[in-house]
Formats: sequence, C-alpha cells, structure tokens
Amino acid sequence: MNTLEAIAARRNVRAYTDEPIPAEVLRAVLDTARRAPSAGNRQEWDMVVVTDRAQLQALAGVWRGAGHVAGSAATVALIAPKHDDPMRNRSLEFDLGQLAMTLILAATEHGIGCGHTAVSEQDLARELLGFPDDRFCAWLVAMGYPADRPIRPLKRHNRRPFEEVVHFGTW
Ligand SMILES: Cc1cc2nc3c(=O)[nH]c(=O)nc-3n(C[C@H](O)[C@H](O)[C@H](O)COP(=O)(O)O)c2cc1C
Repeated sequence: MNTLEAIAARRNVRAYTDEPIPAEVLRAVLDTARRAPSAGNRQEWDMVVVTDRAQLQALAGVWRGAGHVAGSAATVALIAPKHDDPMRNRSLEFDLGQLAMTLILAATEHGIGCGHTAVSEQDLARELLGFPDDRFCAWLVAMGYPADRPIRPLKRHNRRPFEEVVHFGTW
C-alpha cells in the first residue's frame, strides 16, 4: 500500500477480531510513529502500549466514547507533559495529532484498523498506565484487525466537498 492508498483506506474502526497483532508488526508500527515531526523536534510524547485484555477493559472506562478499547488487540496511549504556556500547548496538540496520524497510517499499511479515543478520566488512566504526575494521557488509539471488512481504499467518503473546503488565492 502506498501513502495515498493508506490515506484512502484509513477509516475509524471500532470493532475488532480476536486476532492478536504480531509483536514484530506492532513494534514496526510504533517505530514508524516515532518518526513523526514535532515543533523544535521536541518529541514531547511517550506511548504506553496495552495488550492485556483486563487492562484494556478497564482502560475503556476513561471516556464514554472509549468502549471500543475493551475489544481492541492493542491500544496505544499517547502521553504528554502539562504546560502552562498556551503556545506550548498549541504546538503540543498539533504534534500529538501528527504522532497519532503517523501511527494510524503505519497501522493501516499492515491492515490494522484504528479508533481514536479522547480521555476524560485522567486519574483512572494514570492508575492503569502508571505515567508520572507531570504528564497526562492525551489520546488513545485502539487497534485491531477489523471485524467488518478488510482495510482497503474507500471509494466513497463522508467529507465536505472540495469546492467548499479549498480556496485558491483568497477565501
Ligand atoms: C481528535 C479526535 C478524537 C476522536 N475521539 C473519538 C472518541 O472519543 N471516540 C470515538 O469513537 N471516535 C473518536 N474519534 C473518531 C472520529 O469520530 C472519526 O475519525 C470521524 O467521525 C471520521 O470518521 P473516519 O475516521 O472513519 O473517517 C476521534 C477522532 C479524532 C480526530
């Protein structure tokens, strides 16, 4: 799959088969993710990878939209530092988005479906994942082989029309 095919094939997957992700595949996906760019090349992120079923089920409690984490083959928690400076937080959020997308596209290449998840229950996330007090869990990316259909480039997608989104020269 080339980059354009991976972008066209990626979709949010929230139901997974029982098939585990081979350790070497998971490692390769994570290794690709850490190539993501970041402001000042600060790389202010850590990834905690969870594959234990009981831990995944508990982790699903960190947000009302995180139910799919329970049935995932692996979930990657994106951990970041807390900043007081709004500019630092702004670039950090951008960096985390790029990390997540790099992770997801790398997984797509291997036929793995991913589902983003917000995190509201930070105390529960910290208790389950053990990250330090000066960090927070920014996002979860649940992963697994899709229960519905394989990951293939989508012909139709639910997006705003090109003419509405793209402005040449001026708005
Ligand atoms: C920043 C962000 C947060 C998201 N949070 C959740 C979430 O908490 N739970 C969930 O089920 N989906 C979540 N999603 C998935 C989006 O709903 C999904 O990407 C969007 O509907 C577009 O669908 P697609 O990914 O299949 O193209 C999130 C996506 C992004 C980019």
